[in-house]
Amino acid sequence: MRVLTGIQPSGDLHIGNYFGSILPMIQSQDEHEVFAFIANYHAMSSLSDGGRLSHLTMQAATDFLALGMNPDKSTFWVQSDVKEVLELYWILSGFTPMGLLERAHSYKDKTARGIASNHSLFSYPVLMAADILLFGSQVVPVGKDQIQHVEIARDIATKFNNQYGDIFTIPEFQVDENVATVPGTDGQKMSKSYGNTITIFGEEKSQLKTVKKIVTEVIGVEEPKEFETCNVYNIIKLFLDDNERVALQDRYTRGGEGHGHFKLYLAEVLWEYFRPYREKRSYYESHQDEVREILKNGALKASAIAQPIIEKVRSVTGIKY
Ligand code: ADP
Ligand code: TRP
Repeated sequence: MRVLTGIQPSGDLHIGNYFGSILPMIQSQDEHEVFAFIANYHAMSSLSDGGRLSHLTMQAATDFLALGMNPDKSTFWVQSDVKEVLELYWILSGFTPMGLLERAHSYKDKTARGIASNHSLFSYPVLMAADILLFGSQVVPVGKDQIQHVEIARDIATKFNNQYGDIFTIPEFQVDENVATVPGTDGQKMSKSYGNTITIFGEEKSQLKTVKKIVTEVIGVEEPKEFETCNVYNIIKLFLDDNERVALQDRYTRGGEGHGHFKLYLAEVLWEYFRPYREKRSYYESHQDEVREILKNGALKASAIAQPIIEKVRSVTGIKY
């Protein structure tokens, strides 16, 4: 099965990103044909600092490789290195009714929050459809906010196929209900936009400082404590196996330890868990040429899949004359 995912290079990765999307993607590499790209064209709809965009693109590539993206098994590239996606974007625009885009929640939410509306923000789902259709993707794993975008891609592909024949694979979205929403330091969903994140590759001291900020109930040290509702517990449990989890539950219900102890434990567990990835990351950080080489080869692999599809599109649409 061909599974495709796009990642916006929009800032430091946090442990919500890790458990919600990176880990499932890394794990699925053994089973599926994984296509993953850094959506730098998409990021332009909200970022207009060139230096920052190129920095964030390399940072995202470095982070993903460190966390286990395997370029031998999977296809990993930067969106702008396969330019046909822009050609397809234009061709698909002709199969995208305005009403379809006007109904897009993501666009409506962003403009309602006061983000200046421009054409790239509006036509973003058409570029996303091009990303998906250019590589014959069968499944697109997404968070709930992106379901509608995959539906738009399905609508566009169906309209195109109705006109020109069976050119595109109609993609399915996949929402993993088992992936829990990771809470942030304030107990809300962890998200860059809420400023409540614990980053994956932060400095040890600043990570400890962030962990200490996690909101917990005010209760005496000796009192037994509830773990189910505790933000600290709900984050640590993601890193523990069953035995460790039961042992921690026991520490909560026994009493005699304050939340400060559990926070220190979380900081330790976190630091140890990402240690091997940190080492790999520092390797790639000092070998950025190697990262560029991996991305270049990834773009060649992706392009080899895209060529026959775009050729068919050029042919049926009459662009090829
Ligand atoms: P953010 O909310 O920080 O801007 P993104 O929207 O860039 O994060 O999310 C990138 C990926 O990480 C998405 O697949 C999303 O579903 C996942 N993700 C983000 N935050 C969480 C969270 N708190 N819990 C689980 N998954 C998350
Ligand atoms: N829109 C996605 C997001 O904001 C990123 C993305 C771009 C994407 N193109 C894609 C995701 C294609 C899946 C498939 O998270």
